[in-house]
Amino acid sequence: MIKRPKIAIIGAGGNVGAAVAQWAVQKELGELVLIDIKPGPAEGRALDLAQCGPWAGFNAHRYVATDKAEAMAGADVVVMTAGVPRKPGQSREELIGINAGIVRGICADVKKYAPDCVLIVVSNPLDAMVFVAKQVTGFPRERVIGSAGVLDSARFRTYLAMAAGVSVEDVQAFVLGAHTDKDMVPIVSNAMIGNVPVTRFLSADKLTEVVENTKKGGATLTGLIGTSAWLAPGAGTCLMVEAIVRDQGRVLPCSVELQGEYGIKDAFLGVPVKLTAAGAVEIYEIELSASEQEAFAKAVAANTDLMNIARGFLG
Ligand code: 2OP
Repeated sequence: MIKRPKIAIIGAGGNVGAAVAQWAVQKELGELVLIDIKPGPAEGRALDLAQCGPWAGFNAHRYVATDKAEAMAGADVVVMTAGVPRKPGQSREELIGINAGIVRGICADVKKYAPDCVLIVVSNPLDAMVFVAKQVTGFPRERVIGSAGVLDSARFRTYLAMAAGVSVEDVQAFVLGAHTDKDMVPIVSNAMIGNVPVTRFLSADKLTEVVENTKKGGATLTGLIGTSAWLAPGAGTCLMVEAIVRDQGRVLPCSVELQGEYGIKDAFLGVPVKLTAAGAVEIYEIELSASEQEAFAKAVAANTDLMNIARGFLG
């Protein structure tokens, strides 16, 4: 039988895990294994998705949904969405006390059952959870990648398109730095619309407003919905899964361990990487404006503080 990529989604009973599964099924990326600490929600999400198939035009009725970690055995990609989401008024950083322990426990299973996978971390606080995953699995940094830059960049591109009155597809812009409201770094200096600098479309004040909206994008949605967002987080994460299982070499902003790039060592932050079947195989250093460099340095300091807290959960 021809082997299809095996994609295990941990925390699949939750909204973000289910959204990753939905996009992955629609794109026919491979065999999905939905894992959750509670078997009922994993089974329910899988069944609900399978029942979209007849109208949406895909086959998802041969799923695996379980609470057994060993079901991820031999997975090519593991997507870690386990953990609690933020509530209105709560920061992602406040989740560290609960989520660090959850992520730590599951990463031990990932190391045991899927030692060759590319691990995509989505749990919050994101960059610190990538650190925990890297420490626990001992995987090379290419194979432990955080999904947040894709989401934050999608929000940035959307706000830019809305402000400029253009198609979102023609907006090229990245968000780097931390996945926190305070230390996200939307890069304005090289943002383009149809290859024309954004400054030709928007005033400095308007750009500042777009940047602020982007940084608080997750909090805005959490306030509106009552829990954190899942559709765009799922779409962005699935883009990363696709880049890996189809060996596309996409260049996307992802959180990885920096080992000297941007003059930073031993920190986990969002930077542009090349994603292939082997994971984040290249990191690209781009020129930043003085204020972006300053914001990046602040993100490193905040990341170090969070990693120090996370270390307390590593035992
Ligand atoms: C967000 O920003 C869930 O952290 C995620 O929506």
